[in-house]
Amino acid sequence: MSSQENPEENLPAEQAAAHGAGHEGTTVVKHDADPFADPGLPAHKPRIQDIDERAAKRSERTVAFLFLLSMLATVAFIASFVIFPVTEIVYIWPLGHISALNFALGMTLGVALFCIGAGAVHWARTLMSDVEMVDERHPVAAPPEVRAKVMADFAAGAKESAIGRRKLIRNTMFGALTLLPLSGVVLLRDLGPLPEKKLRSTLWAKGKQLINMNTNEPLRPEDVAVGSLTFAMPEGLEEDSHDFQKEIAKAALMIVRIQPEDIKDKRELEWSHEGIVAFSKICTHVGCPISLYEQQTHHVLCPCHQSTFDLADGARVIFGPAGHALPQLRIGVNAEGHLEALGDFDEPVGPAFWERG
Ligand code: FES
Repeated sequence: MSSQENPEENLPAEQAAAHGAGHEGTTVVKHDADPFADPGLPAHKPRIQDIDERAAKRSERTVAFLFLLSMLATVAFIASFVIFPVTEIVYIWPLGHISALNFALGMTLGVALFCIGAGAVHWARTLMSDVEMVDERHPVAAPPEVRAKVMADFAAGAKESAIGRRKLIRNTMFGALTLLPLSGVVLLRDLGPLPEKKLRSTLWAKGKQLINMNTNEPLRPEDVAVGSLTFAMPEGLEEDSHDFQKEIAKAALMIVRIQPEDIKDKRELEWSHEGIVAFSKICTHVGCPISLYEQQTHHVLCPCHQSTFDLADGARVIFGPAGHALPQLRIGVNAEGHLEALGDFDEPVGPAFWERG
């Protein structure tokens, strides 16, 4: 019989003598010097699966069923990519309106992982050996003779290299090794100049007209129909200017028109013009441009990681990894009847800037 099959072989002699003290079916051995004798391991109680082959078979079938379920969930996970379009939104209680694809992927992957875990746990608890075993700790240090040999080898190596005798080589080598890591510090300069206040402001300012990015014409309120999505940039920003990409990456706007009575957020209503609202187009997750608008629900969806914002409720995040609502631009109408900004955004646009700024 191996020591694994009989754990008592692993016990020290004294502990083995006292094995089971205090546990059912074992004998307590008292030591005068140690009145609190080590009770040792409790006597092993066989489980139903250890003595009844039919119970063991039942457990085997349960584990196999869980693994099979995991396989089906994995197949369903892959099929979800084909079945659900990325734009499909479904209502699922109590989560509300969410992406059907995200929900299907999350559910199927969750079930697949859960079933593997549950199957493994059930297998371990019912069919694998549950005999407790003791494995004594061993000293971590190498035996003295091994340590002596290592030190002797090191001394011999140092002597052969003549590092003690050739001081010039030794000292210049230490100098070279010490200076080399400093080159990594210089590379930090390539991370670019610090952004300083640049991320806190955009080209928007009081009186700047909203220019339709499709027509390059100033937008009028009557150009914005209920249910439409229009992209706008600030007046004066030219597409062929050298800093166009840098500026539009902060200033790009989404314009939508919502019935004023449907706007739930008080400040959003105040900052709008006849239900026309202007929000930053830059996702607050990692900065993708948002482009998918669902006119019935007033939700916009970021195509990168499916963050969803409710434009009728202050553009708050209702789904996905984004951590902040989209910043809103306060707008009005100028004397020529064109939509204009009434200032810059009152917070930095883009990804999670508040945590970094
Ligand atoms: S960048 Fe928009 S959800 Fe990630």
